Amino acid sequence: MEKLIVHGGATLKGRVNISGSKNSSLPILAATLLTKDECTIRRVPDLSDTNYMTQILAEVGADVERASGVVVVKAENIKSEAPYDLVRKMRASICVLGPLTGRLRHAVVSLPGGCVIGDRPVDLHLRGMEALGAEVKVDAGNVIVSAPKGLKGATINMLGKQGSTVLGTDNVMMAAVLAKGTTIIEGAAAEPEVEDLANFLKKMGAKIEGAGTNRIVIEGVKELNGCDHTVIADRIEAGTFLVAGAMLGDGVTIKRVNADHLRAVLDALRKCGFAIETTKDSITIHPNGTAKGFDLTTLPYPGFPTDMQAQFCALACAIPDVSTITETIFPQRFMHVAEMKRMGANIDLQGATARIRGGAKLSGAPVMASDLRASAALVLAAMKAEGRTEINRLYHIDRGYEHLDDKLSSLGAQLERVKA
Ligand code: EPZ
Repeated sequence: MEKLIVHGGATLKGRVNISGSKNSSLPILAATLLTKDECTIRRVPDLSDTNYMTQILAEVGADVERASGVVVVKAENIKSEAPYDLVRKMRASICVLGPLTGRLRHAVVSLPGGCVIGDRPVDLHLRGMEALGAEVKVDAGNVIVSAPKGLKGATINMLGKQGSTVLGTDNVMMAAVLAKGTTIIEGAAAEPEVEDLANFLKKMGAKIEGAGTNRIVIEGVKELNGCDHTVIADRIEAGTFLVAGAMLGDGVTIKRVNADHLRAVLDALRKCGFAIETTKDSITIHPNGTAKGFDLTTLPYPGFPTDMQAQFCALACAIPDVSTITETIFPQRFMHVAEMKRMGANIDLQGATARIRGGAKLSGAPVMASDLRASAALVLAAMKAEGRTEINRLYHIDRGYEHLDDKLSSLGAQLERVKA
């Protein structure tokens, strides 16, 4: 196990390259199971989550090669059962359900466990598979989906009580591309990562319209071919570095990003009073006088992303004002609050709303990383705090951030990774 020692008080300045998107790479890697041909995927970040996914592909029988961000997959002869011991390690593995069902008309995938951000149901995924004509059973912790006569296109409403589902939309899209006839997904997730997956599938020969909106129309085709695709930039890593620049920066530029995917985050930072300049593929943030507090609510895309909620809690601690953040996607996603309070943060949790009175000095303390984004938020708070902070369970960060500590050090942060 490793931990991160952070010495607070540094000023960040300079430029940093953003990596390819984790949440685009995972479903796109799964989609390679839809063809016997070779697929090349570029800008895949080197993370434990993407490593788990490539292991799952290999376990079901695909040939997988990986070298510095490029993954080549050839899923010629594959089996329909995903390995429990790997799937249980990463909830996102559920996104092999759609491609296995679409290609083999049969899939066995273990039910993902819950996680610290809350219960992670898959009822909407299963609703989608049944709507396409599959029989769905849950047995001994596994989801078993079978469609011996093949899948048939249908109109499916994928909205749940918390709104749209990103991986649920992905799974239905990946199953429908080889179904007979037309599928219409109402209430589809509109995240850029869903659109990136659709672009990958269209390069394979799929017929998809409307990806990136809440209504996606898919015309099933007989088979799909290999292709070559570069995943989009990771907008959540980008947002995390922008918050670092807001809290500690004297001019931080992030490169290889698409500002269009960050509108809600950029609007929120501008409303706080930070100066933001964008070009075709970069964003620069500058302090711009005294920052003001904010009131935010997380929403499905294009609303303010839940994956940026913890980072904005850290930002609110650094702004001498009162801010509120309401979490509507994962109402329990506040594991970072208790840890920030150990550092002296003044945060009051009322249900799914955090009320933060910022401006007080934070002090370094040993804290515990929990989920991926909460851990990144603790690094932000620790860089702002006075003194030394130890962040344990660093593997949470390594799941979703490629070389986060190296990138922050290159901007001037004082931190080192040590054996726990
Ligand atoms: C994706 O998870 C992301 N993960 C998450 O990012 C992100 O937080 C989430 O979307 C929301 O944007 C990947 O893309 C790999 P959902 P996903 O299905 O698809 C409920 C990160 O930090 N729901 O969109 O699993 C669910 O409980 C991770 O990178 C059902 O009720 O999330 C939640 O309240 C964390 N039934 C809401 O919908 C279902 O069948 C949105 O979840 C499915 C979901």
